[in-house]
Amino acid sequence: MDMYLLKFPYRKILQPLAGKLGWLHPDIVSYFAVVVAAATAWCFYDSVNHPVLLIIAILLILFRMTLNTLDGIMAIQRGNLSLKGEIVNALPDRYSDILMIAGIALSPLCRNWLGIIAIGTMFLVSYTGMLGKALTVSWQHHGPMGKVERMVVIMVFTLVQFVVLPEKQMVQWFGIQATPMEWSMGIMTVLGQYTILRRLKGQLREIKYKEAVEKLDSGRNRSRAIVIYDSVTDNTRKVAEKIAEGIGCSVRSISETEDIGKYEMIVIGSPNIRKRPTPALQKYQDTNNPQSAKLVTFVTFGLPVWGQITSGTCMNLIAEAWNKKPVGRFSCPGYHQKYKTYKGRPNDKDLMDSFLFGVKLSKKLQ
Ligand SMILES: Cc1cc2nc3c(=O)[nH]c(=O)nc-3n(C[C@H](O)[C@H](O)[C@H](O)COP(=O)(O)O)c2cc1C
Repeated sequence: MDMYLLKFPYRKILQPLAGKLGWLHPDIVSYFAVVVAAATAWCFYDSVNHPVLLIIAILLILFRMTLNTLDGIMAIQRGNLSLKGEIVNALPDRYSDILMIAGIALSPLCRNWLGIIAIGTMFLVSYTGMLGKALTVSWQHHGPMGKVERMVVIMVFTLVQFVVLPEKQMVQWFGIQATPMEWSMGIMTVLGQYTILRRLKGQLREIKYKEAVEKLDSGRNRSRAIVIYDSVTDNTRKVAEKIAEGIGCSVRSISETEDIGKYEMIVIGSPNIRKRPTPALQKYQDTNNPQSAKLVTFVTFGLPVWGQITSGTCMNLIAEAWNKKPVGRFSCPGYHQKYKTYKGRPNDKDLMDSFLFGVKLSKKLQ
């Protein structure tokens, strides 16, 4: 689970407290969080002399995270959501991040160069989020090293540092001798760089989607391709419609009769029902066989891991029914009504991927 999502239940818990603090301006809380971060930095910096400061640092990190959640709730309760508020919400938080990591980086517990790289990476993670906003794509909060995860890593390793500090400062893990705080900086850097890549990938996908929608000519391949599907609970229908939108062609359920022999490309999809397409789709394929069209298959599945693996088998069966080798395949999660898995899927991102898959197919028609 994305730890960022923990913010929402925590918000609920803090709501009564925010109500009681109604007399206080939320900006004061935001600025106070910077003071707390500075105190945390000092605790790290001086912890070699007084190891108990490491435990205080953990408590201060939790306090700061609480303040950062509280200021947002207070602003909402006051109806104070302004652009200025966004600045006060974001900028002091970045100062706090820098202060806190600088406290670790400059302390005897960390090689300075490693701390500097960790600060740079942390800043670039925030920067890629802001870059997305500047490019007007949706806010990218992909992990694995968002703000909450970063704090959790630091708190866990601080605790380990507290345990090992009395005897020795270093631990040897995987043949690398480093302090737990250095490990936390290393992990933050490696996973942070991976987070940057994931966020950029998300942005590029959305940019590609926006550009494709702008250029869209909805009927451009209507006479050349068709998307056919069967769907029991609508997931496959949603995906089918988006693929058709990307191709620029019509979409039909198998119950809507259509002469499919005239198309150059047929895109056919089904839910994964115990590794197979639905019986209705199998029957449809038995009675309709387009001889010369290019075939594309797609499937929605509802079981994590197993559903994805068996979707390949399901798509093979669809292709074998018409004795064709597909020129494209696509699979996507869909909410399983019985087991309640993949709630909310296909979601916006899935539908964007479906659309982009359709755009890719339209190029095969050129
Ligand atoms: C009777 C039944 C059997 C299913 N079997 C599987 C399965 O074996 N593997 C899987 O991943 N999903 C399975 N599912 C979940 C569906 O494939 C998935 O929720 C799909 O998105 C439903 O598509 P639809 O809304 O278009 O009907 C099954 C669903 C039903 C109702």
